[in-house]
Amino acid sequence: MILPIYTYGLPVLRKEAEEVPENFPELPQLVQDMFDTLDKSEGVGLAAPQIGKSLRLIVVNLDPLGDDVPEYKGFRHAYVNPQILEYGPEQDSYEEGCLSLPGITESVKRPTSVLLAWEDTDGTEHEEWIKGFHARVIQHECDHLDGKVFTDRLSPLRKQFVKKKLTTLAKGRVSCNYKVKTPR
Ligand code: NI
Repeated sequence: MILPIYTYGLPVLRKEAEEVPENFPELPQLVQDMFDTLDKSEGVGLAAPQIGKSLRLIVVNLDPLGDDVPEYKGFRHAYVNPQILEYGPEQDSYEEGCLSLPGITESVKRPTSVLLAWEDTDGTEHEEWIKGFHARVIQHECDHLDGKVFTDRLSPLRKQFVKKKLTTLAKGRVSCNYKVKTPR
């Protein structure tokens, strides 16, 4: 089921999300709904708070980048209770956007690799170094689980630049081609 995406200004996006409990009965449906919602909005990543669920769950779809990066072809994965354990030494900057902040894109500097621990939907635990664009998406989505959005990571100057756009979003004035739930 395609769900509305919660946009900037809604309190759930600023909350620290709760761990997904073991054997959580709603998990399979929730993951399916998140992928349906992500596909409809043509995003590469979605965190549960973005559909109004304050849970530590993210879904990633790198398939749209499969033409440029062959290993991303067909890559779709749900990460339950993801936790970044370590950051790699290098950083780079890349233009980011967010389905909860339609109309805003800004260059964000982040480490190019992360050591991630997570559970699969069946409870299997993993720990793996993730690199490149995949690592960037993971960091962006994990930020959502801690109540952060990508504009929090901008320089004071760029923050000033996007302030007006954020205020507009927080007033519920949102323009995009997917279903959203706005602050008012
Ligand atoms: Ni986002």
